[in-house]
Amino acid sequence: MKLNIAVLPGDGIGPEVTAQAIKVLKAIALEFDHMFLFKEASVGAIAIDQENDPLPDTTLKLCKTSDAILFGAIGDPKYDNNPSAKVRPEQGLLKLRKELGLFANIRPVKAYETLLEKSPLKKEIIQGTDISIYRELTGGIYFGEKKLSEDGNTASDLCEYSREEIERIAHLAFKAAQNRKKKVTLVDKANVLETSRLWRKVVTEMAPNYPDVALDFLFVDNAAMQMILNPKQFDVILTENLFGDVISDEASVISGSIGLLASASVGNKYAMFEPIHGSYPQATGKGIANPIASILSAAMLLEHFGLLEEAELIKEGVNKSLKLNVTTPDLNVTYDNVSTNKVGDFIADFISNPKDSNLNFTNIHLGQSTII
Ligand code: IPM
Ligand code: MG
Repeated sequence: MKLNIAVLPGDGIGPEVTAQAIKVLKAIALEFDHMFLFKEASVGAIAIDQENDPLPDTTLKLCKTSDAILFGAIGDPKYDNNPSAKVRPEQGLLKLRKELGLFANIRPVKAYETLLEKSPLKKEIIQGTDISIYRELTGGIYFGEKKLSEDGNTASDLCEYSREEIERIAHLAFKAAQNRKKKVTLVDKANVLETSRLWRKVVTEMAPNYPDVALDFLFVDNAAMQMILNPKQFDVILTENLFGDVISDEASVISGSIGLLASASVGNKYAMFEPIHGSYPQATGKGIANPIASILSAAMLLEHFGLLEEAELIKEGVNKSLKLNVTTPDLNVTYDNVSTNKVGDFIADFISNPKDSNLNFTNIHLGQSTII
């Protein structure tokens, strides 16, 4: 298969982790005889620095003429700490999602058997967790009208949803559940918010079209508690933009590190694949950022194009790296740490030689050992 992939590394650790995903995709192309062509463009704080625009037209154009987009990370502390900044890096990502119509953001969360001890949550609580979060991505409070009074003392953000916006993502969530454990949980705040009541109404009306799927509801405050109290109760979580943002960061604790969580953002025409984590500026350039979220986002990209065997091989490589402790410090405080680059090398190498990688693992750790 030939795929034109737009690469938007973005800010902070974005370029380092994206480079590992590309490495892995190149290994897949070689093994399976595909042709993946990568073209890079800027987005975020770096694009503001270079072109005074967090999403330059050339970047948007590249995305629109590519088959898929691989996105790194966005954000810079110089904007986080300056509430009066006129342009912000995040605007680049939000505009990209909106312009490309990426209304559904799918965030898989699972407890890896080999990492059960790494989570701050108890093993018996998280073991077996396998959740797919369907977060609405182009509506709600993120995109509603924003106001700041002239004296700067009053502000508001409008949260708005239409039936159509709810239906299109709810269909995807129901369909996903049909191929999983057949349960959709709508997370909302219908006891307080009008938009949430509309979500409940619309989703309830749709449910009879999916008779094999059980639908239930949770208020977001309760859902946040249930997520760490009994995460195994969830299959597909369907929710609006802001609640999905918050709950997916919380859910990453189950896996052991936010550096493991990948996502796919899809619409009717375009698809973008991005880690759920941010730009982690403190780690930039240190080789300590976990590239697995980006590598698993590349696997989701392949799945999107039906390349299931290829995606599976990447996931096996990831599992093997975790099992053998070939991991960055976020998951590995007691052993020799492995750099971002080495994790990428290991997984790419596994793809080229799935049988041999124990040997390479030994080499990786020998090369770093302080005893030798
Ligand atoms: C995410 C991020 C973004 C969001 C930020 C960077 C705008 O937190 O993808 O979860 O809030 O959607
Ligand atoms: Mg987030």
